[in-house]
Order: sequence, then C-alpha cells, then structure tokens
Amino acid sequence: MKIIKATNYDEMSKKAASIIAAQVVLKPNCVLGLATGSTPLGTYKKLVEWHNSIDLDFSNVVTFNLDEYVGLDPNHEQSYRYYMNNNLFNMINIKMENTHVPNGMAPNIEEECANYDKMISDFGGIDLQLLGIGHNGHIGFNEPGEYFQKGTHCVTLSEKTINANSRFFESIDMVPRKAITMGMLAIMQAKKIVMIASGEDKKEILGKALFGPITPRVPASILQIHPDLTVITTISL
Ligand code: F6R
Repeated sequence: MKIIKATNYDEMSKKAASIIAAQVVLKPNCVLGLATGSTPLGTYKKLVEWHNSIDLDFSNVVTFNLDEYVGLDPNHEQSYRYYMNNNLFNMINIKMENTHVPNGMAPNIEEECANYDKMISDFGGIDLQLLGIGHNGHIGFNEPGEYFQKGTHCVTLSEKTINANSRFFESIDMVPRKAITMGMLAIMQAKKIVMIASGEDKKEILGKALFGPITPRVPASILQIHPDLTVITTISL
C-alpha cells in the first residue's frame, strides 16, 4: 500500500487526476472504475481541465461506475448517471456507449447485476478503480455486514449512509433506501486502486480501514490485501 499525503483537497484531487491521466495515456482503451460523491468532484474537474488544455483523450476509454440508487431515473438530479454525465462524461470526448452505470430502473435488478459483472469481465476487468470511503467504511455501496459480497448486488442502505447522503436530497425521506453496487470481486480484481479521502471526519474510519483488522464490518479494510493500492489523502494518519 502506498499512502500519499496531500496538503489540501485541491492537491489530493490533482494527484488522483494525474494517476488517472497517466493511465489513459499509457493505455488509451483502458477500463476505468469510477466513484461518485463529494470527494471525486475535484478529480473530475482536473480531468476535464486537462482534456480541454492538453487534449487528454478519452475517445477509447471505457468506464464502469460503482453504484446507482434503485428507483432513480437517470435524469434525476441525484442519480449517479446524472452526476457522471454532468461532472465528467458530457465535458470530455468519451463515447457515451462506453460509459456504464448500473441501471437503477431495471425491471429485473438481479439480472441487471449479473449483466453488469458480465460486462466488466467481457472488457477484461478494471484497469484502474477510483474509490472514496464512507463514514462507515463502505466502498461503492458495500455496506458493513457479516461477509464480503462478491458480485454486483442490490443493497439496503444503512441508516448512516442514508443520513450522510440526505444532504443532497430535499429531505431524508427522499433518499432511496436501496442501491445497486459493484461487489468486492470486481473491485479487488482491478489492476490498480486509487482511494481518495479528505476531511478529519474520515480520519477514524480511514485508520481502521488501512491499519485495523480485515473485516466485512469495515468493508474498505479488504483493500489492505490489494497488490496495488494507492491512498491519496489530506488526513494525517
Ligand atoms: C459512491 C461511492 C461511495 C462514496 C462514499 C463517500 O459512488 O462509491 O462509496 O465514495 O460514500 O462519499 P463522499 O465522497 O461524498 O464522502
């Protein structure tokens, strides 16, 4: 595991974006695993900036997002498809058909999950996975539990996650209770993982995830055994 300390959010974002940009330059048809939430916004902003200023070329890049709320239309402002289109995809030269976000409106969610895993493996797996971390240690929407779930699956969100994400919705009642999330297998099979975390409120959970016991009660702790994990953080650990 490599831990890179950043002095502030902008520096963290720039470093994460540099690693993603390097991946895109080295393998123009790479498969990127992407996250949503507040933390990656600065990273995506940098990538858009470099696309505009130095022609960082996404024309052959393929992406798979980690998760999506069940029941939110892709045009819903809080859907993760909407977030990705508006914070990254619409601003770069990626082909929309090369971008994948689980479909939270799929009539058969189980089938959607199985197809998602199949598509990831048909593309040869993820080259670089970008991750944030939830206050309860979740990655994607892999919530703390009794065991690690391998495949893409439908999850009931924990109260902690619903509370944390209610800041984006008009009221807590409007936060969907279920989501589709990529499972641990596709994440752990990513050739390279970059985790970003900022804010002192994440200090305790980041410490547990990186140095505590490896347990499904802290889902991110499994990353300790990934052969190529880089953590970029503003937090002093
Ligand atoms: C979302 C995702 C989540 C977030 C986590 C942290 O796609 O993967 O695991 O990374 O909830 O969210 P923020 O960055 O908003 O603190």
